[in-house]
Amino acid sequence: MSETENEADTVTFTVDHGIAWVYFSRPAKRNAMSPKLNRRMMAVLDELEFREDVGVVVLGGEGSAWSAGMDLKEYFRETEANGLRGVRKSQSESYGWFRRLRWFQKPTIAMVNGWCFGGGFGPLFGCDLAITADEAKFGLSEINWGILPGGGVTKVVVDLLPMRDAMWLTLTGELIDGKQAAAMRLVNESVPLDRLKARTEDVARMLLEKNPVTLKFAKDAVRRVGLMTYDEAEDYLVRMQEACNFHDKTEGRKEGIRQFIDEKSYKPGLGAYDKSRAAAATEG
Ligand code: ACO
Repeated sequence: MSETENEADTVTFTVDHGIAWVYFSRPAKRNAMSPKLNRRMMAVLDELEFREDVGVVVLGGEGSAWSAGMDLKEYFRETEANGLRGVRKSQSESYGWFRRLRWFQKPTIAMVNGWCFGGGFGPLFGCDLAITADEAKFGLSEINWGILPGGGVTKVVVDLLPMRDAMWLTLTGELIDGKQAAAMRLVNESVPLDRLKARTEDVARMLLEKNPVTLKFAKDAVRRVGLMTYDEAEDYLVRMQEACNFHDKTEGRKEGIRQFIDEKSYKPGLGAYDKSRAAAATEG
């Protein structure tokens, strides 16, 4: 398959009303991440990151899997056969798009429809939010074939889970389903598979209502402050808010206050201000 598979087909996407629906598209290989898929995913993220018609990116999987992790044949065996240069190249391609996802300009949602193994935890963590199907199955199968969860995966589970859960998944390779993943807080929510897309779209639409400049600063802040002392975080957040104010040419925060205090047209405690009118006020 590796010889004949077209790189462009390994990831597909459509853009619909502000949402980019991106899919791992190797269903016959349970969406295992091959070097071709990794290169294609980076190209797709490149294309989507600054498109004005894209406000949220959803990452789903075609077929029965979200992703069966790294492709054991094409990512491990075949690149190892090319020596250290081959290994490092394929690592940089996969780690590269996981990192790109973590700091992506737009908010991202993992929509986990089925199998999610090993290396799949990289993009799972890379996405800001994660909604899964109850029927999905998550596992760190690395231990079952003789490696440790590398490529950042051990760091992912230690960051997201209590130590006992991280250790359990790592040492036993046991599967958990969507409901267990949600209870463990590996994902935000679990819903029946037949509601997965609709629920994901609801969440994406909720994000589309918010100020897009603020979303980017806010999501980066959540990822950054974990490693800071309180004082460092306090200072960082002051600077980030100031940078956010600079980048938000709509002056959204002032409009948000105006629509609440002067106009009384919405309540910030209950939803977002009408950002289309902020943009119009700035243009006018
Ligand atoms: N790497 C390479 N090929 C894979 C992978 C993978 N990770 N996962 C599935 N495939 C291939 C199979 O070899 C098979 O190929 P073939 O049709 O050419 O024989 C095809 O996808 C379908 O796989 P099946 O095993 O027949 O599918 P099934 O639905 O019965 O099982 C399951 C799905 C449970 C996901 C199984 O394929 C599996 O255990 N895959 C490996 C999961 C894994 O351990 N991934 C690596 C994690 S560690 C890491 O990412 C670093």
